[in-house]
Amino acid sequence: MPDDARLLVADKSQDVGRAALDGLLQAQKSLPPWLFYDEEGCRLFQRITELPEYYLTRTERALLITVAPRVVSDFSRNDTGTVLIEYGASDESKADALLAASDATGGSVFGAYVPIDVAAPALNAMAARLRRARPDLVVHPIAADFLRPVSLPPALARLARLGFFPGSTIGNMRPLVAQRFLRQAQATLGPGARFLVGADLRKDPDLLIPAYDDAAGVTAAFNLNLLVRLNREAAADFDLTGFDHRAVWNDRESRIEMHLVSRHRQIVRVAGVAIPFAAGETIHTEDSYKHTEAAFEAIATAAGWTLSAIWTDPARLFALYLLEGPASS
Ligand code: AVI
Repeated sequence: MPDDARLLVADKSQDVGRAALDGLLQAQKSLPPWLFYDEEGCRLFQRITELPEYYLTRTERALLITVAPRVVSDFSRNDTGTVLIEYGASDESKADALLAASDATGGSVFGAYVPIDVAAPALNAMAARLRRARPDLVVHPIAADFLRPVSLPPALARLARLGFFPGSTIGNMRPLVAQRFLRQAQATLGPGARFLVGADLRKDPDLLIPAYDDAAGVTAAFNLNLLVRLNREAAADFDLTGFDHRAVWNDRESRIEMHLVSRHRQIVRVAGVAIPFAAGETIHTEDSYKHTEAAFEAIATAAGWTLSAIWTDPARLFALYLLEGPASS
């Protein structure tokens, strides 16, 4: 197996039953969002990104194509080569915009690409596709939870580094968690690194709500799939007809919240524990923060980054932030 074909598997033992019970036994019941992404959840999320109401993915992609030459131009002066490190990389569609952006000589700026994600099968499939499409690119997939420290392959230590976190996944973190993640990313990426982060912007709830409660019911299926997963993997007996999907705008926190609402009084067993639900009681399943540019900058600055550029689409739906880390830590 060539060196770049190694899959570095970080230790992650996810106990679905325990994680579910931890949340379901709280006063406000909740489930951790990582539970969304089983095989069916990944398939449903892919469908969400193609929905007419879900403007995030297509807006970010178009923005990336426009700004990629500007993002990579600074790296083209670097003669050690550059590595692109993508957090939460489930497919190559967004990295492609950066990998395809050429330097003054017409070549790619990037000699290596390190995609990091928990979903090892999708990561491996993407790495195989990229190696075929870009034989000159060294691809080092890392299957890991990027909320924990990640070690980059030592062979890439001398390259200049551009971190990349697209998709507004940072919006799924509470601000203090986002700050902690950004600080940790700085430690992973090392001194002098830059970090390109894509994040949705605060806007009219009339645009936000349909993006999280689409007419075709794909987001509802994505949310309810959590219960299907618990029935399968946590010995639960959720009746899927007993819960509704709900998306609400929390103005004070500047976030969309997703909930599963119990349609009536019921008792559900999860991993041998009886969980009572009142009629109308909810399980809080996800937060999707919609920061203003200033709020995002405050989080990044508190994590030790300096904001060097912000790009937004003409309708100001979505933002790409280019952050610069200190030259030495
Ligand atoms: C992955 N993340 C950025 C999505 C979001 O928009 O917060 C997850 C999602 N949940 C429902 N629709 C999409």
